[in-house]
Amino acid sequence: MLIEEFKRIYSRDRVPVQVDFRKLVSWLKVGDQLTHQIHPYPAKLLPHIAHFFVHCNMHGGEKYVLDPFCGSGTVALEASLAGHNALVADANPLAILLTRVKTTPYNLEQLREATKRIVERAARLRTAPEILVVNSEKWYAQDVKRRLEILLRSIKEYDDAEIKEFFLVCFSATARKVSRIDPAIAVPVMLRTKDAFSEQQNLRILERLAWVEAARPLDEFFRICHANISRVEAANKVNPGRKVVNVVSNDARSLSSDKIPPAGVPLVITSPPYGTAQKYVRSSSLSLNWLELVPPHRLAEFEGHSIGREHSPAYRNEISAQALPSAYESLLVEVSRTNILRAHITRQYLLELKVALKEMHSKCAPGGRIVIVIGNNEVCGHTLFTNEYISQAMEDLGCQDELVLVDQIKSRGLLTKRNKTASVIAKEFIMVFKKAK
Ligand SMILES: C[S@@+](CC[C@H](N)C(=O)[O-])C[C@H]1O[C@@H](n2cnc3c(N)ncnc32)[C@H](O)[C@@H]1O
Repeated sequence: MLIEEFKRIYSRDRVPVQVDFRKLVSWLKVGDQLTHQIHPYPAKLLPHIAHFFVHCNMHGGEKYVLDPFCGSGTVALEASLAGHNALVADANPLAILLTRVKTTPYNLEQLREATKRIVERAARLRTAPEILVVNSEKWYAQDVKRRLEILLRSIKEYDDAEIKEFFLVCFSATARKVSRIDPAIAVPVMLRTKDAFSEQQNLRILERLAWVEAARPLDEFFRICHANISRVEAANKVNPGRKVVNVVSNDARSLSSDKIPPAGVPLVITSPPYGTAQKYVRSSSLSLNWLELVPPHRLAEFEGHSIGREHSPAYRNEISAQALPSAYESLLVEVSRTNILRAHITRQYLLELKVALKEMHSKCAPGGRIVIVIGNNEVCGHTLFTNEYISQAMEDLGCQDELVLVDQIKSRGLLTKRNKTASVIAKEFIMVFKKAK
């Protein structure tokens, strides 16, 4: 098996083995794969990586795969398609919603019928409760916002809870599509022409802005529903009996024991938040507000539960007094010379990440595998070696590192530069740890 060959190469000189997962798992097409693309999400894992490890036979007889930072559910979908029980956690309720919808083997006829009913009802309705969306007057013409509210009312009044979730996801994608937000940037930023752009690029932007002004949310919703129904159809063909995920927590630092087998899970596959580089909460704020998962006035407090957050919540300061390994303490001294806040945020990130690693280790079965995908970014011009930090933490927990692979990041979804204090992540490490028996 290929993985055994990689392990053999790695054990020789313990240098990360260079791979290209797109070529390794070439039968998965980049782009429109099954239900992977039903909704945008920042820093999605390459499905090829999840697919590779789910099919590596590393789980013994027990068909459980845990992803405590599930995001949009890439690992969960690959696991459920392969007939495993996917156990997930994420601090972001949008992530949990997407993961559940992606893994549900919906009845296609029911979805088509419900689309018709929801759209017809929305066309008849004249009023709907106002939904508080941060900066909504910037993103929408008044009429477009009102039409979205009416559409949302029609979805909310649909009686089947599981089916309703599918349409909430389609609605959220619609609300983003018909907004003035730049579709190429994860966080909400106004789409504008720029002198630096080519004439052709600026023309496309102007065309899109004109389209948005006259947008008909209901038509767009109808189109998105049908595209997503085709995706469910493709996933149903692969595994019509796939199991819907089991949510085990909303915090990777504390996973519920009830839903996890007492002997532990044989396989954990996860991509933790990237240190101070991802804006998970800001980039999903529009959806969180529209779906009333988090109201505008609670976004900041909500961000406080997220590891790798952009801001430093004062009320969680107690953890920041703890010490890190000396190399990281030295790095933070350097960072604090430029930006004390970033040093504090980075410390918090590393300490909280370690708590989550300990928790996933405790839920892994003896002899089980933990696969962690992570990239190193820069903080104030200094590389934060998160991969080495994780390796050390896992070793301290008694794990053996069996394999480290390294792949280039080509997807734009992962490339994120945090103003002047962080850099673009260009490659990611895929680390395989074995828990002691
Ligand atoms: C790199 S993303 C995971 C992407 C995912 N693999 C995918 O394919 O979409 C990291 C995730 O960690 C989540 N996260 C941040 N803090 C968390 C916490 N305390 N507990 C659980 N999840 C958390 C973020 O909401 C984000 O979805």
